[in-house]
Amino acid sequence: MPDQSSASHDVPSEAWAGVHRGPLREGEWVRLTDQKGRRHNFELVAGKRFFSNKGHLEHDELIGREEGFTVTSSAGGEYLVFRPLLSEFVVSMPRGAAVIYPKDAAQIVAMADIFPGARVVEAGAGSGALTCSLLRAVGPHGTVTSYERRPEFAEVAQRNVTQFFGGDHPSWDLRLGDLTEELPQLEHRVDRVILDMLAPWECVDVVADALLPGGIVCVYVATTTQLSRVVETLRAHGGFTEPQPWESLVRDWHVEGLAVRPGHKMIGHTAFLVTARRMAPGERPPMKKRRPAPGAYGPDYSGPRPEGLPPQMLEEPLDS
Ligand SMILES: C[S@@+](CC[C@H](N)C(=O)[O-])C[C@H]1O[C@@H](n2cnc3c(N)ncnc32)[C@H](O)[C@@H]1O
Repeated sequence: MPDQSSASHDVPSEAWAGVHRGPLREGEWVRLTDQKGRRHNFELVAGKRFFSNKGHLEHDELIGREEGFTVTSSAGGEYLVFRPLLSEFVVSMPRGAAVIYPKDAAQIVAMADIFPGARVVEAGAGSGALTCSLLRAVGPHGTVTSYERRPEFAEVAQRNVTQFFGGDHPSWDLRLGDLTEELPQLEHRVDRVILDMLAPWECVDVVADALLPGGIVCVYVATTTQLSRVVETLRAHGGFTEPQPWESLVRDWHVEGLAVRPGHKMIGHTAFLVTARRMAPGERPPMKKRRPAPGAYGPDYSGPRPEGLPPQMLEEPLDS
């Protein structure tokens, strides 16, 4: 087997992966999982002790070993030792605002087509969870400009992202302020804008101005009322393709001998996602050929209305 242990086999630091190969070293974070599946994350410090309800163990017992081993504490507790994955880090890191979970971050990276070298804007930065996925995807040759209007959340995001990448990621620019006021000052136009905030519809005009033709806006919203409002605002703007809304459901499975069945626990709902592409300046998408849903935009509807709706959609629904 080739020698994997030397430092030269580490992931190149200029890749800004937030990952190391090779022996665990001082200053890195590790994740210990006990026999009941409880997790403990901590930074390795030479000479320090980790304490649990099963006694203690020395950090020095972990430093210098290849991850993926079991260690036994002073009172006989067994712990699995690995470096935390990004998907594990973001659900265990300190939070200011609620984070985007890995299942949705993965959808955003794939469906908003975040690519190496991309120029991306996100708001709000919140706790920095999505920021880590975006930075991983754009790499050192892209940019992620994150806007956050609450200083205390920006601080949490700064700490989390810096901890994950082990330093100040060169592609990251965290700006304090409201997106609607600050985005028009951005020095360049961008390929992608990701919105995770209470009122994303308020940002549609500035996002449209910031996006390059063909660029993608991707919005993450928790409720159906937010979903409706943001989709209708994007449609009514006229400079985007037909918005595509969806949600993703992930179900884990129990597989043990003859007992092969869906897991009992499932995250029922996190949020909805919507994407739309920016048209070139002055261009409009073709008028949508829709089967009219009578009354869909009738007198009870109070949001923005797209142009050119068939009259049946504007009338009182028949069964009202
Ligand atoms: C749910 S959190 C974002 C969480 C983040 N995506 C993550 O994964 O950690 C929403 C954040 O948006 C911020 N926010 C809301 N409206 C904003 C705006 N117009 N401009 C900038 N930040 C905004 C809030 O202060 C909050 O921190």
